[in-house]
Amino acid sequence: MKFWRTVSTQKNSCNFRKIFMAAFGSLFMPEMAITWFDGDSWSPTEVVASDSISFHPGAHVLHYSSTCFEGLKAFRHADGSVKIFRMDKNIERFAQSSRLLGLPEIDKAQTQQMIESIVRQYTADVPEPPGSMYIRPTHIGTEPAIGKAAVPSVTSCQYILLSPVGDYFAGGDKALRLLVDDEAMRCPPHMGMIKSGGNYAAAMGPILNAKAQYQADQVLFCPGGDVQETGAANFLLIDGNQIITKALDESFLHGVTRDSILTLARDLGMDVQERQLSVDELLERAAKPGCEAALSGTAAVLAPVDTLIYKDKEYKVGNGGIGETTVKLRRALNDIQWGKAEDPHGWLTHL
Ligand SMILES: Cc1ncc(COP(=O)(O)O)c(C=O)c1O
Repeated sequence: MKFWRTVSTQKNSCNFRKIFMAAFGSLFMPEMAITWFDGDSWSPTEVVASDSISFHPGAHVLHYSSTCFEGLKAFRHADGSVKIFRMDKNIERFAQSSRLLGLPEIDKAQTQQMIESIVRQYTADVPEPPGSMYIRPTHIGTEPAIGKAAVPSVTSCQYILLSPVGDYFAGGDKALRLLVDDEAMRCPPHMGMIKSGGNYAAAMGPILNAKAQYQADQVLFCPGGDVQETGAANFLLIDGNQIITKALDESFLHGVTRDSILTLARDLGMDVQERQLSVDELLERAAKPGCEAALSGTAAVLAPVDTLIYKDKEYKVGNGGIGETTVKLRRALNDIQWGKAEDPHGWLTHL
């Protein structure tokens, strides 16, 4: 994905102003907020250069993948103010991931303060909509101990990276092709609701195969015929006034965008069904004209899906292309994020 951004001349920012292109998430603000857990307490937050970090090559994270992260966004409004979207929900998930991985408990108030202060430092670099500042809190086990395969890291490090991003759809809104895989699991079931690097590594093989063999954009993981999610987004089926998506359990990631879209759909009077969806039902409903499918996630917001590939056969979703309910729901969410509509659920934090 390509996008455009401007870089300001503000202190601590890149010292030039021009527009250029880069891949999503590949540009970083020059400094980040960081804190270290020494086995007892978190150090006071520091702001340091974001291009390097120093820890032992035997660090727990490098061997036993004790790592989790978050992805949330700050948006610039027309009055120049900057707002962070659903920070509390992301911090809750970050704390839960840390706990389930046996990492030290995070101090949620400190994490919030770190996010707010580093975004405030780079307020001038938050792109205008449809761009935003992508915020990446990260937590890693740092204890130098290669004998601790089944024991958690006593020490850890938390940092907040910032990456200005453009419109995910800058190249034109294109509906996605998904390979429906009713065998592979994205990750072990008890890891699904943890946002951890190991889960993405586990999904990489099936995704690469799906790309090479079927030119699919993503894999829709449906182990045992149960429609779960893709490698980096939740899956929603939109059939007329109904939205159907898997009910929350520990086997998949509880997306903040999923929750936001379902809330807005309920506000619009739609019938939201959080329940089990089988591959058979998915294909049966997808064949109806007017049926839509979409992926939800912080990066892409709500991305249309128009092709499902199952057992070497291609199935068009509804009429193909981009569904109008998908566009309507995405706009409703963007309007709140961009300050063009009221924020009735109190999702924005003002800096
Ligand atoms: C596996 C997976 N599922 C779902 C999502 C969507 O989550 P959110 O809406 O909180 O970004 C993500 C986002 O990164 C993801 O990696």
